[in-house]
Amino acid sequence: MSRRRFITLEGGEGVGKSTLLAGLENELGRLGQKIVCTREPGGTAMAERLRSVLLSPQEIGDKSSPVAEALIISAARRDHVENLIEPALSEGNWVICDRFVDSTRAYQGMALSGEDFDALAKIATNSVMPGLTLLLDAPPEELLERRKQRGAQLDRFERRPMSFHNDVRQRFLKIAKSEADRVVVLDALRTPEQLVAEAILHLKKVGLLPEETNTGAVS
Ligand SMILES: Nc1ncnc2c1ncn2[C@@H]1O[C@H](COP(=O)(O)OP(=O)(O)OP(=O)(O)O)[C@@H](O)[C@H]1O
Ligand SMILES: [Mg+2]
Repeated sequence: MSRRRFITLEGGEGVGKSTLLAGLENELGRLGQKIVCTREPGGTAMAERLRSVLLSPQEIGDKSSPVAEALIISAARRDHVENLIEPALSEGNWVICDRFVDSTRAYQGMALSGEDFDALAKIATNSVMPGLTLLLDAPPEELLERRKQRGAQLDRFERRPMSFHNDVRQRFLKIAKSEADRVVVLDALRTPEQLVAEAILHLKKVGLLPEETNTGAVS
């Protein structure tokens, strides 16, 4: 079966997912492709409501159950897949999604057995997995500076200690290793332009874009 035109962007906080998403949208748009950009948790009205519960430090505090979080995120994901991702793909669009099931495995997955997580992921995604996942990777210490410079209020996850972010990084890298055919690791410390160019190269490599596509992106 050919790969879905469904691209997910993964990685820790402030690693550059949203920046790469905007760059890819721009580049694919320039190539005349129809693109739907979305994010998780979120993307549909119901899922966005659940997102605000999950990311709100005031309402939740720091003691919520990771299993409960995984279930809420999975409910949001199922709604997102059924009502936005699958219809958009069926209509011939590319779908680029800022975070997807790998984030749940990296952030909440350790609270469940591998078997339970896989079963939950299968229901949540309706077995709709990305054709390519771009994992942005860098040491969390290097990313802290970028986050601070952004000046945004830190959310419930961003406030966690450096050891937490390092663990998340290692879990993402483990996913990339075990699913090397789907997940490619990009060095998040490269420039935004370089990262778009690399992403386009990988889209060609897996056959999602024709090799001869003339892209403006520089490497
Ligand atoms: N490749 C890059 N080089 C330098 N700075 C970057 C790069 N990519 C993003 N940035 C900057 O780093 C900050 C975080 O980027 P961005 O918001 O894209 O990350 P994110 O992964 O989407 O973060 P979050 O997890 O909070 O959604 C922004 O200030 C952005 O301008
Ligand atoms: Mg973002």
